[in-house]
Amino acid sequence: MQHGASSHTDRPILEVKGMCKSFFTKERTVIALDHVDLAVKQGEFISLVGPSGCGKTTLLRIIDGLEQGDAGERTLEGVALEGISQDMAYVFQDINLLPWRSVLDNAALGLEARGMSKQERTQRAMEVLEMVGLGSFAGSPPYTLSGGMQQRVGVARALAVRPKVLLMDEPFGQLDNFTREALQVEIAALWARLGMTIVFVTHDVDEAIFLSDRIALFQPAPGRITEIVDVDLPRPRTDYDVRAHPRALELRSHIMAHLRAGKGMPE
Ligand SMILES: Nc1ncnc2c1ncn2[C@@H]1O[C@H](COP(=O)(O)OP(=O)(O)OP(=O)(O)O)[C@@H](O)[C@H]1O
Ligand SMILES: [Mg+2]
Repeated sequence: MQHGASSHTDRPILEVKGMCKSFFTKERTVIALDHVDLAVKQGEFISLVGPSGCGKTTLLRIIDGLEQGDAGERTLEGVALEGISQDMAYVFQDINLLPWRSVLDNAALGLEARGMSKQERTQRAMEVLEMVGLGSFAGSPPYTLSGGMQQRVGVARALAVRPKVLLMDEPFGQLDNFTREALQVEIAALWARLGMTIVFVTHDVDEAIFLSDRIALFQPAPGRITEIVDVDLPRPRTDYDVRAHPRALELRSHIMAHLRAGKGMPE
C-alpha cells in the first residue's frame, strides 16, 4: 500500500522474537510478556493497543533496552541489540522536563549524553524546536509552558537525536482532547515528512486508527500480541475520516470486540 510522503517498505527495521518477561513480587508473579514476536517495517507507524497491564510499556522498554527480557531477542536492521540503543529514542508519558534548564537545554539532553559539542547541540535542538513550533520558547523555563507544549518538547528531545526508530508511550494520554488532536495531526505530519519508523503505545482506539499503518492488539495475563490489524485507510487522514469512514468504523468495532473478549467481556 502507498502512503504518500512516507518511505514505508516491507523490510523490517526492528524485530522482537520470543520475548518473555516476568515480574516477581512478594504477592505474585506476573507474566508481563509471553513469547511476543513483532516485526516493525522500515518507515511504518505501528501502534500497540490493549487494556491496562497487558505489557505494552514493558515491551517498549525492552525494545529500547531500558529493561531486559528474560528470554528472546531484539534486532535493529538485522543486528542483535545489547543494552540501550543509541539509534532509538523514547518519549515517556510523563515528560519530566528538567525545571532548572531552558526549553532548549531540555531538548538537547539526549545530544549531550551522546557527547556532541555545544554549538552542534544548540543548532540541532533549535531545529527540532522549530519543527514542533516552539522555536520562540527556546530560552524559556519549562514551567512557563502548557502541558501540550511540554509534551512537544519531549517529542523534540527525542527527534533531536535523529533516531531510526521513535518509541512513544502514551505521549498524549494526559492532554485535553483539543491539544491531543492537534498533537496527533502534528506527529502524523512529522512522521510523513521525516520518513521515521514509530512504535506508539495508546489506550485510545481512535488515536491508533488515525495514526497507524498497523495496530498490534494485546491481551493480558499473560501479556501477548493476539492480532495485528492492517489499517487500510487512505492517507493523509483527518479526524472526520476516523469518526465517519465506514472502514474506520468497521476497524474500530473489530478492535473493541477483540479487546472486550480479552477481558472476558461479552462481544
Ligand atoms: N517493575 C515491575 N515490578 C512488578 N511488576 C511489574 C513491573 N513493571 C510492570 N509490572 C507488571 O507487568 C504487567 C505489565 O505492565 P505494563 O506496565 O507493561 O502494562 P501496560 O500495558 O503498559 O499498562 P498501562 O496501559 O496501564 O500502562 C502489569 O501487570 C504490571 O503490574
Ligand atoms: Mg504502560
